[in-house]
Parts: sequence; structure tokens; C-alpha cells
Amino acid sequence: MTEIRETAAGADSRIPHHVAVIMDGNGRWAQKHGVSRLAGHNAGMLAMKEIIKRADVMGIRYLTVYAFSTENWKRSQEEVGGIFSLLVKYVGSELAELNENNVRVRILGDWSRLPAPARASIEKALAVTADNDGLQFSIALNYGGRQEILRAVRNLCARAASGEIEAAAVTEEMISDALYTGKENGCIPDPDLIIRTSGEERLSNFLLWQCAYSELAFTDSLWPDFTPDEFETMVKAFGNRKRRFGGR
Ligand code: FPP
Repeated sequence: MTEIRETAAGADSRIPHHVAVIMDGNGRWAQKHGVSRLAGHNAGMLAMKEIIKRADVMGIRYLTVYAFSTENWKRSQEEVGGIFSLLVKYVGSELAELNENNVRVRILGDWSRLPAPARASIEKALAVTADNDGLQFSIALNYGGRQEILRAVRNLCARAASGEIEAAAVTEEMISDALYTGKENGCIPDPDLIIRTSGEERLSNFLLWQCAYSELAFTDSLWPDFTPDEFETMVKAFGNRKRRFGGR
């Protein structure tokens, strides 16, 4: 059966269908306030909670946040462990409310490598929200865009080698379907808008295939200082941009 993929082009142009966020600046926020990096991530988690609520109220269908990249393992064990402990804490304190609000949680990335308590929290969040059809909230964890594309290529090569598909007949849609945002997660449409905080203007290996036609928006605010009002202003400014998808 052919699945119908919701495309960015088909979205209501005023409110983006899918907003993806690179939550950057927790460390600098911590330094600025003379607290530990982990306290900065905790403040980042509180900011994330508020952005999820506002995205839901605004009628955004898909919200994706970049919480832990494949490169973030290079940080100190203490910081890495602390981020995963925050995930456990977040699920523990917020899952009931997310579920009441009909939010569906999904994970993008290879979360099999995460510590056992984080995996258990993820399993619970996925199971509890599995039937929810409100805001589709995806957390990128141990996620890397190149790694995601490589995984999709290997999957398609294996299927071609076994004779299931023909290499020459591989399409863009088949690649999309084999990404984390593909069939395994219900075919999440490509992001219409990608926001990055903290004044950095790059994608840092985030949604590299999916960002082909995404609008990009940047703010100097450090992630813990990023308010729902600023989020709403940026999203609405997006509604004024004209997207041509390569056409005129
Ligand atoms: C980037 O700031 C932020 C991260 C790598 C972690 C993001 C984590 C959270 C917002 C909270 C935890 C939420 C979940 C779901 C686990 P940075 O540390 O790179 O900041 P810097 O560039 O100023 O050092």
C-alpha cells in the first residue's frame, strides 16, 4: 500500500506544519549565570516545556527538537550522563500532562545506545502516547543527519542486494521513507522552518536530507532565554515568507 506523505508544500502557509528547533546555548547561559553546565541544560529543559505548549496552542502539527547529537558523546561523562538524567526527569514529571494534551512523543536517532534508565523512560513515553494524534513531538537523541542518511543507504543497498528492489529504481521518496523521519515514525513531513538559538547560523548535522526546502531562522537568544512569545513571533514571521520550492 502506498502511504500518503504530507509534504511541506501542501501545508497551510501561515502556520508551518513542522517546526524543528536546534536548542543551542545552554552552556553559555550557564557560564553567564555562574552555574554548572548541567544547570544550564536543566534551564533548557524548562524552556523546551514551554515551547512545546505554545507550539500546540498555535496549531503546529509537528515539533522536532535536537536534544543530543552523535557528536555530543565527546562531552564529559558527567555532562552526557546529566543530559540523559534530565530526560528521565522530564519524562517522569511531564509524561502525564503530555498525554492529557494528546501529544505523541517520537524519538529520532539510535537510542539503543543510551543508558538503560533513559531507554526505559523512552519506551514508556512512546507506549503511553502511541495513540495520540495531537502535536507530534519528536526528540532527536543520538541523532546525526549523515549517520541517518548512511543508515538509509545501507538499508536500500541490502534490499537491492536481496533482489527486493532494483538499485536503478530507487527514488527520493524511498530514501525519505528509510530515514528516522520515514516509515518507522509514521512519515514525518520535512520541516517547513528550522530555528536555531544562540546566534550560531549552521545546521550542525541536523535533518540534512529533510532541510532541502526549509526556511531557516536564527536568534541571538540563548536557548534557556528563548520564550514562547519569541518562538511565536519567529514562526509568524515565517508565514510572511514566500516559499517557491524551486518554482517561480
Ligand atoms: C546545546 O547547548 C544543548 C544541548 C546539547 C542539550 C539540549 C538539552 C536540553 C535542552 C535539555 C534536555 C532535554 C532532553 C529532552 C534531554 P550547548 O550545551 O551546546 O550550549 P553552548 O553551545 O552554549 O555550550
